[in-house]
Amino acid sequence: MASFSERAQNVFPAGSNGEFNLPPELSIVIARGEGCRLWDSGDREFLDFSMGWGSVLVGHARPEVVAAVTAQVPNGSNFAYVTEQSLALGEEIVRLSPACEQVRFCASGTEATMYCQRLARAKTGKPKILKFEGAYHGANETGVTSLFPADPPDFPEPDPIAGGLAHKVKRDILVAPYNDLETTQKILAEHGHEIAGVIVEPLQRCTPPEAGFLEGLRAATRAAGILLIFDEVVTGFRLAYGGAQEYYGVVPDLVAYGKALGGGYPIGAFGGPAELMALVREDRLGDPDYMWVASTLGGNPISTAAAGAALGVFRQDGTYERLHGLGETLRAGMRRVLRDRQMTAQVIGDGPLAQIVFSDRPVRDYRSTQRGDGAKGRALMLGLFRRGVFLNPMGTKLYLSLAHDEKVCGELLDRLDDALGDVG
Ligand SMILES: Cc1ncc(COP(=O)(O)O)c(C=O)c1O
Repeated sequence: MASFSERAQNVFPAGSNGEFNLPPELSIVIARGEGCRLWDSGDREFLDFSMGWGSVLVGHARPEVVAAVTAQVPNGSNFAYVTEQSLALGEEIVRLSPACEQVRFCASGTEATMYCQRLARAKTGKPKILKFEGAYHGANETGVTSLFPADPPDFPEPDPIAGGLAHKVKRDILVAPYNDLETTQKILAEHGHEIAGVIVEPLQRCTPPEAGFLEGLRAATRAAGILLIFDEVVTGFRLAYGGAQEYYGVVPDLVAYGKALGGGYPIGAFGGPAELMALVREDRLGDPDYMWVASTLGGNPISTAAAGAALGVFRQDGTYERLHGLGETLRAGMRRVLRDRQMTAQVIGDGPLAQIVFSDRPVRDYRSTQRGDGAKGRALMLGLFRRGVFLNPMGTKLYLSLAHDEKVCGELLDRLDDALGDVG
């Protein structure tokens, strides 16, 4: 009889549901998870350093989230309308998020960033969006464009790195280098009359913003009548309860959320000032600047109950000290292990995120990440996977959660030391 992994290879392209690119011999099928561990269908245990690509910041099967979901299940799973759970969650997001006076829910981060971009176009009447090279905003056109350009064109030309994108991507998306305010300002000065919004991951992938970068973006976009969009799908609730806005002290016009908000359940949200959000009011249907929003499962009571419980967990004393402390411990440990092995590499990240880039130069943007030895990075990730660390070898960013502790980080560092032996 075919194994679970063989069956997965048959039914799913490359045996996965997207973006894992594991060699078939490493491919597994997951049976269950608890805390920061998961078990495959053969009952092999893995330390999880992917945590559902960061969506399960609370930890797998966190009791508060399980209880909230279990309480809601017998009361119905979707009404495609406001429920007590979505109302309470919306009120809490508006309270915690500096940029949000009003919100709407959807079912994923991809939708949330798409809606923010559309709102920028609807509000300004301008056609273009500027993104940063190497940034991911979900599988929509902007998120994929110039995500991994092999031979990046000159700025601000976009590179549709994948097939199937709309041809207008070439015309309507501009690309700037992250952390390079001067070049970005030049692009804004030249093209600002056509740019509706600038979308940025405040912490791009695993690369923190340099001092003044986000502040400079805020000032330049405001001066040019361009809306600044923070994609907080990763940073939201992870760097601080109020996300990157609170942590870096910069408030955008629009913000997109997803991942950790849902406590592991599907969710997306976007918000901004009430005056901007008014463009989605259905009583404006027919107005030239009205923007269509509809998400069948957005704000469903199961996801919003889970999210309400997750936010309750995040509000507990010491959450962010713990997440930042663990991240620092992990990054410092990685540097120590690399140094002891006499390997030249950069360890990047902030908060509960860490990544190793095999480069002798500091990493500040996509091109400096790309100068790193990607083959070595992938070999290391696969080596860790072989040693029972569940991670995404394409993403290479490691996610910690509230279920991780110093001991688990120590276990990871032992396996890292061992795996580095294979990498050479
Ligand atoms: C910064 C960022 N934005 C948006 C998304 C898309 O979120 P989703 O996969 O929920 O559509 C991701 C997903 O990894 C992300 O990392």
